[in-house]
Order: sequence, then C-alpha cells, then structure tokens
Amino acid sequence: MSRDNDRKTPVEIAVARHRRWWLAIVVLILLGLVYYLVFVNQYVVAFVSPKDHFMHGSIGSETATGPPYWVFKALPVMYADKLGPEGWGRFGFLYEKPDDDLPIGVSRRVVSGVERVWLNCSVCHVGTYRLPGDPVRHLIPGAPSNNLRLQEFIGFFIDVGRDPGFTADALIATIDAPEVGGDLNILERLIYRYVVFPRVKSAFLDLGTQLDFVKRQEQWGPGRVDTFNPYKALQFNFPMDEAHISGAALNGSSDYPAIWRQRPREGMNLHWDGNNDSVAERNLSAALGAGVTPVTVDRASIARIEDWMWDLPSPPFPAADRIDQAKAAEGKTLFLRYCADCHGFKDVNGYSYDRQRFTRLGKTVPLAEIGTDVGRWTSYTENFAAEQNLLYAGYPWRFSRFHKTDGYANHPLDGIWARSPYLHNGSVPTLRDLLEPSAKRPPVWLRGSDEFDFAKVGYRSDQSAGGDLFRYDTTRPGNANTGHEGYRYGTDLPDAAKDALVEYMKTL
Ligand code: HEC
Ligand code: HEC
Repeated sequence: MSRDNDRKTPVEIAVARHRRWWLAIVVLILLGLVYYLVFVNQYVVAFVSPKDHFMHGSIGSETATGPPYWVFKALPVMYADKLGPEGWGRFGFLYEKPDDDLPIGVSRRVVSGVERVWLNCSVCHVGTYRLPGDPVRHLIPGAPSNNLRLQEFIGFFIDVGRDPGFTADALIATIDAPEVGGDLNILERLIYRYVVFPRVKSAFLDLGTQLDFVKRQEQWGPGRVDTFNPYKALQFNFPMDEAHISGAALNGSSDYPAIWRQRPREGMNLHWDGNNDSVAERNLSAALGAGVTPVTVDRASIARIEDWMWDLPSPPFPAADRIDQAKAAEGKTLFLRYCADCHGFKDVNGYSYDRQRFTRLGKTVPLAEIGTDVGRWTSYTENFAAEQNLLYAGYPWRFSRFHKTDGYANHPLDGIWARSPYLHNGSVPTLRDLLEPSAKRPPVWLRGSDEFDFAKVGYRSDQSAGGDLFRYDTTRPGNANTGHEGYRYGTDLPDAAKDALVEYMKTL
C-alpha cells in the first residue's frame, strides 16, 4: 500500500524533471551574471563635473597598459631610493591636494576583477605657474604640462622590469607594508603571486623591448614627449633599431600643446606639423598616445572631454595690472601687420579665428621658409600616415585625415602666455626671446621651473629659478632654436617694438 502511495504519477515525474531544468538554467544564468559582473563588466569612478572627469576620469587606457592599483601604489615605496620622498612627483606628476590618492592624469578602472590605473589626457595637458616670490602653484587645466618627465617615467618602468630584486615576494611585502596599506587577503595574495606579478613583470619587460630605442634618443626633459616614434613602436611594431631609424627622424621631441577652444580649430591643419584637420581625429589619436587601443578606447568618456574642450576658455593673464595698456595697443597694431595673417588676432570682440580674414591661419609654412628644427617634421613619415589611416578600420570613426605636410602649422595664439616654452620643440623659453634672431636666443638654458617671468613672458630659465631644472642644450638633435626669424617674424624690429608685441601677447 505504502509503496503504491510513494510512487509518483507520470505527471509528477514530468514536473520534477522540469524543476531540475529550471534550477539548472537559473544557476547557469546566475553564474553567467557573476562572470559578467566580475570578469567582463568594467567599473570606473564617475565624476560629475567635466573638469574633474578630464583630470581623473578613465579613457580606457588601463585595460591594455595599466598596472594594478596596488602595484602603482607600491612602486614608489619599493624604489624610494630612486624616486625619493616625492614619489611619482619625481616625474612631474601633480596632485590637486597634497593627500590625494592618485596624481592628476592617473585614472582607475576595474578590469576582470582587478583595479588597474593608467594615464588619461590631463597628464599631458595640465600646466602650472607660480607668481614670483609666491610658493603657491596654480594649475591650468588644458594648458601644456610643463612638469611631466615622461621619458624618465617610461625608463623607470623598464628598469623595474629588468631589476632582479623585483620579485613577487618583494612586491607583496611592500603592498602589505603600512605605508602602502594594501592588506591583501589570502586569495588576493595568491592572485598577486601567480597571476598579477608575472603579468606585470612581463609587461614591463615588453615595454623595455618595444621602447628600447628611447634610450638612444636625446633627453626629452620636462614638458616634452616624442609624439610619433613611441607610437610607431607600440601601435604598429615598426622596427626602431639603428638600421631603421636614426638621424633627424629619431628625435622628434615636441612640447605639449594647449587644448582649449577646439571649436574654432575645427578644419585647421593642426598638430605641430599640421598633419590632421579634424579635431575628433586629433582627440582619438591622442588617446592612443595615452595607452588606449582601438579595442579598449572608451569613446563615451572621450566624447565628454571633447565637449568640455570645445569651448574651454583660454586662461586670462594672471595679473591684469601688469599689462601696460598703451604699450599693448602699440603692439596690437604691429601684430595685425606682421603676425595676424598666420596666427589670427584679438581685439575688443575677442580672439578671431576667421580664416577668410587671416588667410594662412591653420595652414602650414614650408620647412625651408619657417626654418625651425627638422626633427618632429622628419619623424612623421608618409608610411606612418598610411598606417594611421588604417586605424579603427571598419568603424565610422576610422581615421582618414592624417597626411604628411610640407612644414609646421600656424596655430592660433590664444592664451600664449601660458604655453611657454615656445616653438614646437619648446626650444625658446620666453616670448621676448622668440622675437630675437636665433643667434641671440639663449643657446643653453634651464627648463622645468614654473616661476613666471613677467618681463619676458614665459617661465624663468636661469640658474636661480625654483624647481627641478633640466639643462636644455639647443645644439643637440631635435633641440634647435633656429627659425621663425627675419622680417615677417618681427625679429628685425627695434627693441621697443618687440617689447610692445610681447605686451600685446599678454592679452591674447
Ligand atoms: C602622452 C601625452 C599626451 C596625452 C596622454 C594626450 N595628449 Fe594630446 N597631445 C600631446 C602632444 C605631444 C600633442 C602634440 C602632437 C604633435 O603635433 O606633435 C598633443 C596634441 C593634442 C591636440 C591637438 C592640439 C593642437 O592644437 O594641435 C589635441 C586636441 C589633444 N592633444 C587632445 C588630447 C586628448 C583629448 C587626450 C586624451 C584622450 C590627449 N590629448 C592625451 C600629448 C598628449
Ligand atoms: C608666415 C607665417 C607666420 C608669421 C608671419 C608669424 N608666425 Fe609665428 N609661427 C608660425 C609657425 C609656422 C609657428 C610654429 C613653428 C614651430 O613650432 O616650429 C609659429 C610659432 C609662433 C609662436 C610659438 C607658438 C607656440 O605655441 O609655441 C609664437 C609665440 C609666434 N609664432 C608669434 C609670432 C609673432 C609675434 C609674429 C609676428 C611678429 C609671428 N609669429 C609671425 C608662423 C608664423
């Protein structure tokens, strides 16, 4: 009897089987969800203000290039002998507030369950200045970074990769040390030992292989980067050994540019050599320089930065009372006569970027005519332009506007007071020096101070200027301070006229 009662009816059996299926499906969905949330989905810190997003938000560079957060925190402690008490500040990284966790220009993103950090646009596009006799450092978001020593920063990672003392034990011990405060649990410790450490080490070693040629280059110093040579190696695996690249093409160091007021720059052939006339392509290409790849790029994030840069005003001169208005008015007349056709012009209505009126603005001046250093121009080749125009192939935003040009571009000079040192290779410290013929410009000077020089307009470059100074020698390859001289460029004018031009340029 009882047996008969236990026996399930065919209907009951079918229902139970169904339940098991349902259960299996639900478990699978849950597992899939967990897998997605932990390993596929990426998490970023969101910032409400577009300026904060620019300074700290992620553009997607962490995924392809960035070390884990705890490695980034541990390295300055492990290598305190090299970096000193400043830590990352040693390479010119800036902090908005002294106790900020990460410097400006370093963002975070959780990728495959591990929090990683790497660079964003602001690392190269935030400048600073100090007023004479005042220790306060003022930040200018969108101005060229004048402090960043990127070549030394890259060299540091390469050295760490090759250091036999860089071991999983040493790394984990440092992460756990109180100065770092990582406090890894047993599982994380295992992950760091068997997954994270080997990957980090091999990434640093790979960097050393790919960027080995950087050691053959002249020192970039603070405030400069070789724009296209590392890009050739990292994105396209161009051979960069001595047999393939040497001479002028090897040293294309460029000063960081300002990135404000992009709207009126649309359609101008910009970058220092005028190789691209689309702002959107210049932005996407710049992101590749920060370590994103066409696959990992966060386009929504970059679109936010683009919106912010579109009408970002150039910074006003920091001391209006230090502009001699009568002299500036004199300079304005001279500027209109000599300079405006190439650089645009500012009057009571604001800066005019009108290319109907200023016919050479946003165009290039042939190399032989402008006469500035050949390095940056030479490093950008037809071959490389062709490779760039294959980037993002298959997408609507595929690059198409990159081209080799005949010289250097005529940029608008809005906010020029905050863009020292001058010319594409940053070879001339002040505006007043630029108005001298090259034989009278400083041949060797000190770069890296952000103390403002009100008389010559630019950063101070003499021995007693404050800051971590780098000896800039204009006789080295890529560093020439020649060109932009002669009648058209104002270098033949009498001193009083040059002073007036400088006074006017304070107002731009
Ligand atoms: C590694 C440093 C670095 C990073 C990071 C970087 N840039 Fe730049 N950027 C440069 C340099 C150098 C140039 C000038 C290139 C040249 O012509 O040689 C430049 C040029 C530009 C220009 C063109 C300026 C002009 O007037 O010619 C724009 C716009 C720009 N960057 C935007 C961005 C944006 C947006 C990002 C982030 C997605 C970014 N940059 C990230 C270094 C950087
Ligand atoms: C024929 C066009 C032309 C004329 C005229 C001209 N410039 Fe230039 N200017 C250029 C070019 C091209 C560059 C970029 C050269 C380089 O970086 O190698 C430049 C660069 C500059 C820079 C440096 C910009 C920076 O971001 O570093 C300043 C400042 C400047 N010019 C001021 C002047 C003044 C002042 C006059 C007039 C007295 C003048 N220019 C006349 C073409 C011109």
